[in-house]
Amino acid sequence: MRQTLVAGNWKLNGSLDSIKQLVAGITAGAGGTGDTQIAVCPPFVYIPLVSNLLAGSKVAIGSQDIADQEAGAFTGEISGAMLNDFSCTYAIVGHSERRALYAEDDELVARKFAAARKAGLTPILCVGETLEEREQGITEDVVARQLDAVIKLESIAAIGEAVVAYEPVWAIGTGKTASPQQAQDVHAFIRGKLAGLDQAVADKVQILYGGSVKGSNAKELFSMQDIDGGLIGGASLAADDFLAICMAGT
Ligand code: PGA
Repeated sequence: MRQTLVAGNWKLNGSLDSIKQLVAGITAGAGGTGDTQIAVCPPFVYIPLVSNLLAGSKVAIGSQDIADQEAGAFTGEISGAMLNDFSCTYAIVGHSERRALYAEDDELVARKFAAARKAGLTPILCVGETLEEREQGITEDVVARQLDAVIKLESIAAIGEAVVAYEPVWAIGTGKTASPQQAQDVHAFIRGKLAGLDQAVADKVQILYGGSVKGSNAKELFSMQDIDGGLIGGASLAADDFLAICMAGT
């Protein structure tokens, strides 16, 4: 039985004060979320603070990105070892905003995935199609290509030690959630593809859905057979909203 994971991606949001408040709210309610695994991914500069504030709670911490390199002349980058120094468990790689706005291609995302694993972090690998790709009927091709780049550089076994997040680009931040069945169809495709390579990996890997998840739609999404939780953007910025989604996983 796979556990439900709810991960908050705070993106480029928050201030010292608002983040202290948000973490206080989340930790105050986290005890009531049963077996649901919870993680938050703050902007890099707040990771040391949030890591301290979360100590002793069940809430894990992750980064929103990671360098594909270990050290050296790579201005502006943050390495896996640095994230490890501040108790990060997860690193999001290949978020669609990074792919679209910062020109990250499948190969770079695969190298970031490898860098996270090398540092002992669990990558949260984001995959998903744009609206145009969905309308062209190539959703499965796109998702398969994004997964294959990682499997080729690493291995199918490495996917078993990661988390996959299916995030249709057209549903991110738009208020347009994929219907539970639309999401389930792609999750089942992903799990089936992985099963074709290694059944044990397919059975084990948590596949999260992301894209306008809210307290009001989380339960229905998480009840689908192949949806093992969510990657939450907007609704992770208010403790009550985020906790309501965590509760939906119980
Ligand atoms: P959203 O973002 O929940 O605001 O749609 C999801 C994500 O980008 O991970």
